[in-house]
Amino acid sequence: MILITGATGQLGQAIIASLREKGVSAANIAALVRDEKKANGLKGSGINIRVGNYDDTGSLVKAFHGVDKLMFISGSEIPKREQQHLNVVEAAKQADVKYIVYTSFMRKNEKPDSPIAAVAASHIVTEESLRKSGIPYSIMKNALYADMLPIFLGQQVLESGVHFPAGDGSAAYTLREDMAEAAAAILTEEGHANKEYDIASGDNHSFSDIADILSEVSGKNIVYGNLTKEQYVERATRAGLPSAYADVFAGFGEAIKLGEFATESGQLEEIIGRKPVSLKSYLKNIYQASN
Ligand SMILES: NC(=O)c1ccc[n+]([C@@H]2O[C@H](COP(=O)([O-])OP(=O)(O)OC[C@H]3O[C@@H](n4cnc5c(N)ncnc54)[C@H](OP(=O)(O)O)[C@@H]3O)[C@@H](O)[C@H]2O)c1
Repeated sequence: MILITGATGQLGQAIIASLREKGVSAANIAALVRDEKKANGLKGSGINIRVGNYDDTGSLVKAFHGVDKLMFISGSEIPKREQQHLNVVEAAKQADVKYIVYTSFMRKNEKPDSPIAAVAASHIVTEESLRKSGIPYSIMKNALYADMLPIFLGQQVLESGVHFPAGDGSAAYTLREDMAEAAAAILTEEGHANKEYDIASGDNHSFSDIADILSEVSGKNIVYGNLTKEQYVERATRAGLPSAYADVFAGFGEAIKLGEFATESGQLEEIIGRKPVSLKSYLKNIYQASN
């Protein structure tokens, strides 16, 4: 039995779809949800629904009963995440889980001066707890989702241009669905135990490149305006983005500027056995359709 945590989320759903495409039967898949109402889409699929919350170790031990492989998707509540993740690893030990695949995050600077230190900290602690857990594990160091770009760019990007505080920094943006396919491969193939992978497209682009791609795709002249962190937060909150999000996105901009997410790693390509989807093809798909 393979249990996927975060099964109501976008990555979790995509991993379940990839596992099914690889021929794993619904009866051999379990989905962890914290709110049973959100599992409606899974009901009737034959997939086992288990209820549990990262805040509650007891609920997780119960949910992990009979699970051989745990697809552990990192949580989305950053301030509480470190303890939540330690709860998941502890529950996996108590439930005698045999293998854990964890979605961590790419980074180079692990020190507190990193602009994404708050996001990275819980991943660093979780990785360490997995290495010490005694349970065979695989760590996926996921790159920045290409799927985050439309959110970073804002709804008016084709009208008002690209504005982000990322300087000339490049990043290897990677499609969530490619990451899901990699997770399904790691879960179903031999030879991945106690390995750590950079899950990245290897396709590095700056925000100037992104503006060029958007120009080509939309037929408009889209220009990149590099902003300071403060200018970005001011602009984004004026456009209606909650300030907590604007601050986090600005931190990602700073990290991109410093090259935190730039990599030419070909490990994702090796795992999925094909070239990951390019950023150009992803952006074309999104912006040509909406144009
Ligand atoms: N690499 C990147 O660029 C990037 C970008 C964004 C996020 N991430 C990370 O990758 C993860 C997966 O991405 P995603 O796009 O699938 O995110 P998502 O759609 O927000 O899904 C997050 C999942 O985690 C579940 N969850 C959150 N807190 C939980 C808790 N206390 N107990 C049990 N389940 C909990 C959510 O359940 P509910 O449906 O009940 O909320 C949801 O199913 C995120 O959670 C985040 O850690 C990475």
